[in-house]
Formats: sequence, C-alpha cells, structure tokens
Amino acid sequence: MTTSRQDVSLGMPQLPATPYPAEVRARLDADAEEVIARYPGSRSALLPLLHLVQSEEGYVSRTGIAFCAETLDLTTAEVTAVSTFYSMYRRRPSGDYQVGVCTNTLCAVMGGDAIFDTLKEHLGVGNNETTEDGKVTLEHIECNAACDFAPVVMVNWEFFDNQTPESATRLVDDLIAGRTVEPTRGAPLCSYKETARILAGFPDERPGAVEATGGAGPASLIGLKLAKGEALPKARVVSPRAGQPQDGQPHDPSPSEHLSSHDAPQQTSASDPEHPAGPAAEEGE
Ligand code: FES
Repeated sequence: MTTSRQDVSLGMPQLPATPYPAEVRARLDADAEEVIARYPGSRSALLPLLHLVQSEEGYVSRTGIAFCAETLDLTTAEVTAVSTFYSMYRRRPSGDYQVGVCTNTLCAVMGGDAIFDTLKEHLGVGNNETTEDGKVTLEHIECNAACDFAPVVMVNWEFFDNQTPESATRLVDDLIAGRTVEPTRGAPLCSYKETARILAGFPDERPGAVEATGGAGPASLIGLKLAKGEALPKARVVSPRAGQPQDGQPHDPSPSEHLSSHDAPQQTSASDPEHPAGPAAEEGE
C-alpha cells in the first residue's frame, strides 16, 4: 500500500482553506496538468503553479497553497516555505498593478529613494500597501539588472526606465485613471493576474507581445566593448596574467591582454612590485 505524503500526519494543524469553486478547480486542474507535464518530477512544477494560483486570485492564498500541495503531493508547510521565500509571490490581496521602485544602491543614489518617498506620499500608502481603490500596490524592489537605466520603476515586472519623482507620479496617476501606459521596453503592460499567468508558462497571446524587446543601455554597451577589446579603458590596467612590467614604467595593455572585464585591476600581491608573489609551488617547498 502506498501512502501519500498528504496522508501522513505531522502533528501540525492544517491551515483552514476554502476550496475553489468547482468550475475554478476544474480549470486549474487542467492548467496544472499541462504545467506538470513539462517536468520530469512533479514537484519541480511548484514555482509555475504558484504563479498559476496567483493568476486566479492575485496572490497566493491558503486555498492556492492547499491546491499546490494536493496537486504536487507536497505538504502545505513545504509549499508555504517556497511561496514565502520568493518576493514575486504575494501573500495578501493586492492591487492590479504592482509598482516596484528600485531602491537598491545605484537606483537609490540616482533618485530611487526620492521616487519611493514621493509615491508613498502621493498614494497615501506605505511599502507593500495597496491604494483604497485596489489599483496600485507600492513596494521597494531590489536591483532588477537594469542599473544602466537607473532609477528604474517596474510595473507588473515591466520596465519604466530613467524615472523621476514627476514621471513616476504621472505613471501611477495614469494607472489609477485607467489610461494606457507604455513600458520603456519589452511587452505591453497587462494586469497582475495576466502577468502571473504568463509567468506560469502560458503563452502571451497579445499581438506583438512576444516580439517586443529592448536593447541594452549605453553603459552596458560600453562594458561589452571593453570586454571584447573593442575599446580601451582610460585607467591603467595591470593584469597579473600578463606579467609584471620590466622597466618600471606604466604598462598599457593591448586589447589581447585585457579581454575580459574579469581581468579588471586588483591590488593583490601579484600586482604589488614591493611584495611580488612567487610561484604557488614555492609555498610547499
Ligand atoms: S540598482 Fe536599480 S536596477 Fe540595479
């Protein structure tokens, strides 16, 4: 006889969870089956299934947690642990638009902190709070790898680059008024629930949405040129791998000596003429 993990009592009370209505449950069961079929082991489908339940209710409810646990033969504790680990899963009913202001270091100094403070005051909400009309949830977000467009605001994970307190205020006013807003790059904006369904792995059927893209910013492109040796850095670069200068003069590396940004200068014993490092083998001799 096989025993499901759901049948094993861990001595912990289950959280009360209202079941989905039959029609919703049937729809989610069919969607979940499609998602699970993409993975060799069903538990690997937990992250997309959490997005799927978010697409139903806008957040990961107790009902959604119970659904994922039952569907994947996990405990509700395991599902809860995963859903509370990742910041893309919301734990309470929230707005149609998740407005995230990057206040990580670079964006913060470029104006992210000022944008966040302005929106907080303008919307009358704090971090992770939702406006009374249920339209906008405001939150701090960490770096979204868009630092060359700092300061960055994201709405439902679409980029709004190079923001100011004024432009961000216009943005949330437009969202609340139901006016169309265009992300700076990438796919057109959709509601949080629609975004969650796409993140669950279902196709974005909107015309042109998949083709929409955005290029790297100028700072990234300069870094790429440096990495390829197509541009020379202004600063002197000493590459330990290229050996020490023989004449005591500053050494201008050729592009071939500095092919990667990982070779950027570090003052280590290998690059300090006063304390040159010997071959590694000497230590053991
Ligand atoms: S610090 Fe804001 S995107 Fe990197």
